[in-house]
Amino acid sequence: MLQLQASKPQIDKIKQAAVIFTEDGCKLTKQANTLDKKAGGFISKSIKSGRYTGAEESTITVFTSQLDDVEQVIVCGTGKKISKLTENGWRRLGTAVGKALDAAGVAEATIVMEEGTKELSTKTMAKAFVEGVFLSTYRFDCFKTKMKPHQKEKLKKLAVMLDDSAGFKKMIPAINAQKEGVTLARDLTNLPANVANPTYMMKEANKLSRMGVKVTILGEKEMKKLGMELLLAVGRASKQESRLIIMEYKGDKKSKKKHAVVGKGVMFDTGGYNLKPTAYMGAMKSDMGGAAAVMGLMKALAKNKSQANVIGVCGCVMNMIDGDGFLPSDIITGYNGQSVEIGNTDAEGRLVLADAISYIVDTKKPDTVIDVATLTGAVMSALGGFYAGIFSNNDDFAKEIMESGDTTGERLWRLPIDDGYAMKSKIADLNNDGTAFGGASAAAVFLKNFIDDKKPWVHLDIAAMAMADKIPGGPKIDGGTGFGVRLLFNHFNK
Ligand code: BES
Ligand code: MN
Ligand code: ZN
Repeated sequence: MLQLQASKPQIDKIKQAAVIFTEDGCKLTKQANTLDKKAGGFISKSIKSGRYTGAEESTITVFTSQLDDVEQVIVCGTGKKISKLTENGWRRLGTAVGKALDAAGVAEATIVMEEGTKELSTKTMAKAFVEGVFLSTYRFDCFKTKMKPHQKEKLKKLAVMLDDSAGFKKMIPAINAQKEGVTLARDLTNLPANVANPTYMMKEANKLSRMGVKVTILGEKEMKKLGMELLLAVGRASKQESRLIIMEYKGDKKSKKKHAVVGKGVMFDTGGYNLKPTAYMGAMKSDMGGAAAVMGLMKALAKNKSQANVIGVCGCVMNMIDGDGFLPSDIITGYNGQSVEIGNTDAEGRLVLADAISYIVDTKKPDTVIDVATLTGAVMSALGGFYAGIFSNNDDFAKEIMESGDTTGERLWRLPIDDGYAMKSKIADLNNDGTAFGGASAAAVFLKNFIDDKKPWVHLDIAAMAMADKIPGGPKIDGGTGFGVRLLFNHFNK
């Protein structure tokens, strides 16, 4: 576990590695200059001798014997004037420095933070920066059995030096809680389906009950009784039992308001009888990224003892092939009584969400509903790997969630819901198939049939974001991103 500490700036107390900044090209910042003076000008001399230009998010590591306890100085470029950096800019610097610290292989590092501005306080700068370090030092190496000691995770302690150390210290529990939530979501996404099946998700959820989350699991027998035939149909070909996981966190006893967050947990999506071609099937262990984000959110809220009432729901199934599998053209009636013609067994996510959403809306009557799902390839075509799609029946609510996305750097772009996108069925109420164009909107219109249209609802299509080879605007990472945890935690955490 990487430990986070804070103290007032005291250059003499730095051990092993110092992180400092340049601005406006190669100019050392105020704090950086103090350290450079102490090192007899060695740092400024070194960075001028190479290719370092101080470009934003570039780093250079200077090894020095001039400073007593400091062996390595990681210099990070900000490109512009340091006061011009946004919160997200600081987060991106953090991700760059995280990579440099990993390469440096130090156990302890100290970030020498700069003074804040009117727009951005020092503690918010530090928070965003540290988040960036956390995001880029995440590893998923539990299956690597032949790692040499020098290849393993080294960084144990991250110290932040800033004037408002007291203010920052108060933020540490939330930063750590969020980190644990993101880590859980990433781990769940990265775990393959032979390990992370619906029962594994159930066990993960049950762990949260130790933190005061009320966990209820519906198995296939219970769901059958409730008539959740849409969700059950998707999971029917799998030997793994489908599970609907309900996690209730009540952190704001004074408020009657409660909010539902529903995640798509297709632990693997082969496509079913509308089988996916090889090239598209490979990444489908991540088709539970929505459920992973929901579970990560619940963990973060519970860890932080946040003042919010949130009901997390994960619909967990495996979309497989078997003699008993559901078929294209089947007509299935789900929990809320509408009949659905199966136009495509590969459009399974909306079926799982349909039952999960309508069940939670009916039984818990939440004030708002958010669903998170790796729902369509179409949203990837529309927005690439930079934004997730957001759809909503309520402009104010959509705006609120989009602002949370902007603050956290998990950006959202609003796409239309319009009845014109709906796929029609000649013989049933609905058809689950997609359309050749605008398929992300077709999926959203389908879901709209299962909400309470009087209550604010947003649907987040995170297909392009749950698994990535880079954090948008950040460094390369491999696999699960935990997308959604931060924007949702930021929205609910009080
Ligand atoms: N899980 C996929 C969507 C997906 C694609 C997620 C790529 C992540 C990366 C979803 O279940 C799916 O297969 N959607 C189909 C719907 C179509 C058959 C109407 C799609 O988008 O092609
Ligand atoms: Mn599918
Ligand atoms: Zn899917």
